[in-house]
Amino acid sequence: MSFTVTLSGSGHRFEVDDNETILDAAIRQNVGLPYGCRNGRCGACTADLVSGEVTYYGAPPALDDAGEGKCLPCQGIAASDLVLGVREAETTADLEVRMLPVRVHAVDHLSHDVVRMQLKLPENQRLQFMAGQYLDFLLPDGRKRAFSIANAPHDDEFIELHIRHVDGGEFTDWVFNKMHERAILRIQAPLGSFVLDEESDRPMIFMGGGTGFAPLKGQIEQAFRAKLKQPIHLYWGVRSKRDLYLPDLPEQWVRAHANFSFVPVLSEPDEDWQGRTGWVHEAVMADFPDLSTYDLYMAGPPPMVNAGRDAFRAAGMPDAHMHYDSFEYAEDTRDKVGD
Ligand code: FES
Repeated sequence: MSFTVTLSGSGHRFEVDDNETILDAAIRQNVGLPYGCRNGRCGACTADLVSGEVTYYGAPPALDDAGEGKCLPCQGIAASDLVLGVREAETTADLEVRMLPVRVHAVDHLSHDVVRMQLKLPENQRLQFMAGQYLDFLLPDGRKRAFSIANAPHDDEFIELHIRHVDGGEFTDWVFNKMHERAILRIQAPLGSFVLDEESDRPMIFMGGGTGFAPLKGQIEQAFRAKLKQPIHLYWGVRSKRDLYLPDLPEQWVRAHANFSFVPVLSEPDEDWQGRTGWVHEAVMADFPDLSTYDLYMAGPPPMVNAGRDAFRAAGMPDAHMHYDSFEYAEDTRDKVGD
């Protein structure tokens, strides 16, 4: 049985399933309730319980401090329809940008020049972010390194990054050669406004170059989580097959979601490659000559994003439907530049 939660300020409504916490349901449906730890300790999610009944599996520690007439959506289960009073985060500007220590939980070499890094926040902390945003590593000498967050907000036990080795790049050299698991780093996050427009029902095209796949992965996983029904097309441009560093993941999405399609595009194809070749934005244009009714999400090196933006504009795509995030690989002073 499911119940309806109504937010008294905005009138926004969402459904909560059996045994699902109110916060999990809100994240699944992209309603921006505030949160911190997600385990009942910090009180950041505290909401006014205007009407209805909320139950808990064991009393969360922050419930006493929350006071009379309050509830904790991160642990609360709806036992009836609810009306809650809470300040919603509707845009990235509503999210608190925090400086946090993180521990490197795992580093997996995904290809010859890309690693997946998983970061763990301190005990009892979670990062509230929107799919597609990025973080800055704050280095001891005051410099910053920016990387897109590759996971979706509902899957936030770890923060996932895809890091490509930059030739001669001090930071990525260190990541590839010297960094050990359990290393402690400092981050500032969440940053950037490259996020999914879930209010739109237009079909979506995601176009990534290299590790530009990372923020798109988070956004696509969020689109699946939100059960968006429109067609979702992913075009991933790389040089050759070995650069498709998570080749099985989009194929799994194809099998699991009837509305999803995947087109890898190689600019320097291997001899045995049977698929699409050339520039990734040209493959998109060839398949969708009229883009006026689509939403487009692009992430990757500036030449790719700039070429795509100009070509898609010429194909009738309104600027308001184009969302992009441009990476800078050339210098190690800034591995990625946020949008
Ligand atoms: S998010 Fe920390 S108590 Fe709910």
